[in-house]
Amino acid sequence: MINHQIKIDFKEYPSVLELSEPFQSLCNEAIKALSGSHSPYSKFRVGAALLLQSGKILHGSNQENVAYPSGLCAERVALFNWGANHSGDPIVAMAVTAQTDEFEIMQPVASCGACLQVMAECEKMQEKPFEIILFLSDGPVWVMPGVDSFLPFLFFEKRLGGES
Ligand code: THU
Repeated sequence: MINHQIKIDFKEYPSVLELSEPFQSLCNEAIKALSGSHSPYSKFRVGAALLLQSGKILHGSNQENVAYPSGLCAERVALFNWGANHSGDPIVAMAVTAQTDEFEIMQPVASCGACLQVMAECEKMQEKPFEIILFLSDGPVWVMPGVDSFLPFLFFEKRLGGES
């Protein structure tokens, strides 16, 4: 039996103000994206912003539905827009934040598994990772160098062809 341990590489900053530009501005864009959230059921607003190589910013916010599974997370709203309309312009970084009036959020909200898998697909499409910034507007910031930090055992397409 081999007991493996996996280390995850990410940086923590006490506040968005400690980030360099253009990441500070990107976080402000994610905060702006919160206003587009349609979240009457969870009352939990999530905003995402993508910084593209050209400098363009794409926004996403969670879009809920009365038929609950029909809704979509903020990250995937932004990433699918990129895939559909901007995939020739690589993603440099993605910032994600959340707010609710229902309780105090104590630490940055980590993206769900489905969003991580979509981030992985986008990294694969552009053949390079992008930084993922999870933050609270008045709290800590976590910066991951790529989706590998979350998904070390990522499902990847070569396995469909029998390669490991
Ligand atoms: N949500 C996101 O937008 N991103 C995530 O990664 C996790 C959850 C949304 C989905 C739903 O609208 C609300 O947060 C509560 O789960």
